[in-house]
Amino acid sequence: MKELSLNILDIAQNSFTAGASLTEILLTEKENRFIIQVKDDGCGMSEETLLKVSNPFYTTRTTRKVGLGIPLFRLAAEQTGGYIEIQSSQKPEDHGTVITGVFFKDHIDFTPLGDIASTVCLLAQGCGNGDMVFRHQTENGEVELDTRALREVLQGLPLSNPDVQLWIKDYVKQQYENIKM
Ligand SMILES: Nc1ncnc2c1ncn2[C@@H]1O[C@H](COP(=O)(O)OP(=O)(O)OP(=O)(O)O)[C@@H](O)[C@H]1O
Ligand SMILES: [Mg+2]
Repeated sequence: MKELSLNILDIAQNSFTAGASLTEILLTEKENRFIIQVKDDGCGMSEETLLKVSNPFYTTRTTRKVGLGIPLFRLAAEQTGGYIEIQSSQKPEDHGTVITGVFFKDHIDFTPLGDIASTVCLLAQGCGNGDMVFRHQTENGEVELDTRALREVLQGLPLSNPDVQLWIKDYVKQQYENIKM
C-alpha cells in the first residue's frame, strides 16, 4: 500500500466489524519511531483467529480464505525494520483488541502517512453507532478528533452528513497546519 493511512483504515475497520463501541487510533511519533496503535472494545478474537493472524506465514496458505488487513499492516511495519503486536480478549469483562505497529521513519521503505484527514473523515463515517477517537502525537504538537465530543455539538445530526464530513476533514487539516514546523 502506498499510504499508511490506508493501512490504518483497514485495521480500524476490523474494529468496527467487531462491534466496538469505542475505537481509539493513536499515532505517536518520537525520534525515528512512528507507532500506530488501534484499540477497541469489540468482540475480540478467538484463540484460533489470534494464532492465525499472529503467524506471519499464514497468508501463504491457499486452502483457506484469509484477509489482508493485518498481513499488509505487518508487512508495512516489517519492511521498515519494525514489527506488530496483537493482544485480544473475548472475556465478557474485558473484551477487545489492541494492535500496535512500530515503524522506523528513517528507513527507505517507510511508507508516508498520506491523506490522513480523508481517512479520519471516512472512519468517523464508518464507526456507525460506535465512537472513534483519533489522536496523533508529534514532537511539534497533537492532532485530535473525538466523535463523542463532536456528537454533543451536532445534536443528532449524523456523522455521515456531507457537511459534517467536510467539517471533519477541514478540522483535522487545520490542526496539521498548526503543528507544521
Ligand atoms: N479488532 C478486531 N476485533 C476482532 N477480530 C478481529 C479484529 N481485527 C481482526 N480480527 C479478526 O482477524 C481476521 C483477519 O483480519 P484481516 O484484517 O487481516 O482480514 P479480514 O478483515 O478478514 O479481511 P480484509 O481486511 O482483507 O477485508 C478478521 O477476519 C477477524 O476475524
Ligand atoms: Mg480487515
